[in-house]
Amino acid sequence: MRLKDKVAVVTGGGRGLGRSICLALAREGSSVVVSDIDVQSAKKVACEVKEIGSEALAIRTDVTSGKEVDALMEAAAEDSGRVDILVNNAGICWVGKVEEMSEQDWDRVMAVNLKGTFLCSKAVIKFMKGKGWGRIVNMASAAGKTGGLLVGANYSVSKAGVICFTKSLAKELAPYGITVNAVAPGLIDTDMTRSFPKGAVASTLKSLPLGRMGSSEDVARAVLFLISEDAGYITGEILDVNGGMVMD
Ligand SMILES: NC(=O)c1ccc[n+]([C@@H]2O[C@H](COP(=O)([O-])OP(=O)(O)OC[C@H]3O[C@@H](n4cnc5c(N)ncnc54)[C@H](O)[C@@H]3O)[C@@H](O)[C@H]2O)c1
Repeated sequence: MRLKDKVAVVTGGGRGLGRSICLALAREGSSVVVSDIDVQSAKKVACEVKEIGSEALAIRTDVTSGKEVDALMEAAAEDSGRVDILVNNAGICWVGKVEEMSEQDWDRVMAVNLKGTFLCSKAVIKFMKGKGWGRIVNMASAAGKTGGLLVGANYSVSKAGVICFTKSLAKELAPYGITVNAVAPGLIDTDMTRSFPKGAVASTLKSLPLGRMGSSEDVARAVLFLISEDAGYITGEILDVNGGMVMD
């Protein structure tokens, strides 16, 4: 129970990586605010968190709305006045070529993946600052380092932005005992990647050193490490969880 009495907010917590992160936090004793644009899925995950024995709250939030994000953090901090942990996981993918990409396709991916990460981080700061301890973990992507192979340029650019935002915020918040890190997953088996063209996934896997897709638990364990005391001297780090896809 490494996170007993901590309050965590996970965006996009209703399924996939977000759900596994919520459950991993719960197993360590943290109370979990499961936030998602799809409130039904958030409610289901909140029930699973409670079955593990931790407190949970399900809240509908669209991370592109500053107003909704502010309300989310207020609700999370209502009992204790604190939010100790924020996992900026909510994200969407777009698959296609720049020639086929509309202005709306570009804007929507940027709004959810990059602006959402900014809005949630900004809103949580006042509930972390002054407590001497805080953890922000952002969800980047291997595509944000190399440019996308299976995914659109809008997605890759949004994740490159998340990587740079992580490093900038890590510098700003270090004096307050708040670390800011990111994980950069490769190809992980979730609803997001199940919609990718099967042939393209198979050929990517063939050249992958570890030879398999990652699981959402693989990513959740890395997130948990960055939140743990073991990672207390790590900030501004982009942790690859990619089976050897990118080594830098
Ligand atoms: N699956 C992968 O291979 C992979 C690889 C690299 C990075 N990622 C990143 O990991 C994160 C989670 O991915 P996943 O595979 O679990 O995806 P997913 O599509 O299975 O789940 C994403 C969740 O985010 C929620 N969401 C979408 N838009 C939202 C919004 N505007 N506000 C709040 N919630 C919203 C969805 O409802 C869903 O519950 C994303 O940021 C994604 O870009 C995933």
